[in-house]
Amino acid sequence: MTISDDSELVRLREIGRIVANTLEAMGAALEPGIATEELDGIGRALLEKAGARPAPQLCYDFPAATCISVNEEIAHGIPGKRRIAAGDLVNIDVSAEKDGIFADTGASFAVPPVPKHIGRLCRDGRKAMWAGIRRVGADRPLAGIGAAIGEFARRNGYTLVRNLASHGVGRSLHEDPGEIATWPDRAERRVMGNGLVFTVEPFLSLGAEWAEGGDDGWTLFSEPRAPTVQYEHTVVATRNGPLVVTLPG
Ligand code: CO
Ligand code: CO
Repeated sequence: MTISDDSELVRLREIGRIVANTLEAMGAALEPGIATEELDGIGRALLEKAGARPAPQLCYDFPAATCISVNEEIAHGIPGKRRIAAGDLVNIDVSAEKDGIFADTGASFAVPPVPKHIGRLCRDGRKAMWAGIRRVGADRPLAGIGAAIGEFARRNGYTLVRNLASHGVGRSLHEDPGEIATWPDRAERRVMGNGLVFTVEPFLSLGAEWAEGGDDGWTLFSEPRAPTVQYEHTVVATRNGPLVVTLPG
């Protein structure tokens, strides 16, 4: 969506804070032995308490409140009986609606013991996201985001998953202006309008180029299989640059 008045921005910041706090609490609860459905329960309870509704369920009939993807899974994993083990790489994605406005955030967490290359992948995944966010602002080219992330990945020897895009968000979980590449895209000619709301969520990997679907109709796997992380914020393009609304507080 494009923010048209102060009340919309206030509501966006509110739901942004709620999903960020929920993600933070779920990350803190992550430990060996916890089942992914228990983690999801923690997230669902926090969203409910804050008066928010889980977006994956609301928009797509997803069978849980949050998406939890473990190791070979990289996105849209369904929380269930699977128990977290030491050394797992876990992605948690939280999106929700309150008062008609949606926000979306996600992060990958490495459960100790963390091998050096995984620790580095996590730190760099966050850096890749921020490299993209720094290019956000009113009247700036959308292509700048993917260009900056692509340059970061190339310089540091990573691949990017090229069929999981960032997206407009606000009045729905996925909306105008549609998909936004987090990799270099020469065909991208659009410019960010003042107040445009969207996510920046690159998938940085030690080899994966694509995400491919499995048998459950939801879970996406890295292809070729390789450790992959995702970090995601919801941002507003303003005349002063990026306004990140999914920070805990
Ligand atoms: Co998300
Ligand atoms: Co998203």
